[in-house]
Amino acid sequence: MIETINRTAEYIRSQVGEMPRTAVILGTGLGDLVNHIQITKEIDYHTIPDFPVSTVEGHSGKLIFGHLGGRYIMAMQGRFHYYEGYDMKQVTFPVRVMKALGVETLFVSNAAGGMNKEFRVGDVMVITDHINLFPENPLRGRNYEELGPRFPAMTEPYSERLIKMADEIAAADGIRLMHGVYVGTQGPTFETRAEYEYFRIIGGDAVGMSTVPEVIVANHAGMEVFGVSVITDLGGKDITEVPSHEEVQKAAVKAQPVMTRIITEMMARL
Ligand code: HPA
Repeated sequence: MIETINRTAEYIRSQVGEMPRTAVILGTGLGDLVNHIQITKEIDYHTIPDFPVSTVEGHSGKLIFGHLGGRYIMAMQGRFHYYEGYDMKQVTFPVRVMKALGVETLFVSNAAGGMNKEFRVGDVMVITDHINLFPENPLRGRNYEELGPRFPAMTEPYSERLIKMADEIAAADGIRLMHGVYVGTQGPTFETRAEYEYFRIIGGDAVGMSTVPEVIVANHAGMEVFGVSVITDLGGKDITEVPSHEEVQKAAVKAQPVMTRIITEMMARL
């Protein structure tokens, strides 16, 4: 496993040269961020040795290197979801490679369904904590001490420092920025009304099908993490609207300017 990670990292380094200390996983809602990066280099996933191969045809995804808010970063355009059939090691492989390349700070974004009754469609929620309801932990199996400890603490999976920074930017700009606990589930079904209700009762504010595996591995590797969700639909026992992929995409696009503003400013302040 370590040889594979290092081989992939070595390939990327040989293609790109200088490596950034900051990475962004562009989930639904952060797609527009790409248009704000002064791109210096792009690498298609399918050309990278041992990178997972995309299940969606013509959408292999790519690694992007360039400057955002004056900071040199790398961005993953396209992530690997557990529901697509990847195993947890594949889902989180890019995070291992980032760490091997010297990345110290990871930004992640996603679309999520809101259970918190204060939330509205189009809200942006800073992830303050998560509840892992995936059927498998990405750290299951042999632990490599070089990568991180056997039993990593998860008491601050999302950096308090970065949450505070986001709050300051939002306050200065008059942006409505919510806080909440993200519940990670395997999907691909959206939740039943009873499930949305259940996730709210156990302490969740939003639910989605990604992010938690990558954040666990990033924490294991000692990275500082910032996560943000776009609330694309609402769920609960009184809510009759049916979530659809199209609606999720549409709501995510609407929240893009706020997402882009916050992340870009954070890059400048890091
Ligand atoms: N549930 C799970 N994942 C999601 C949702 C949802 O309601 N909305 C966007 N991603």
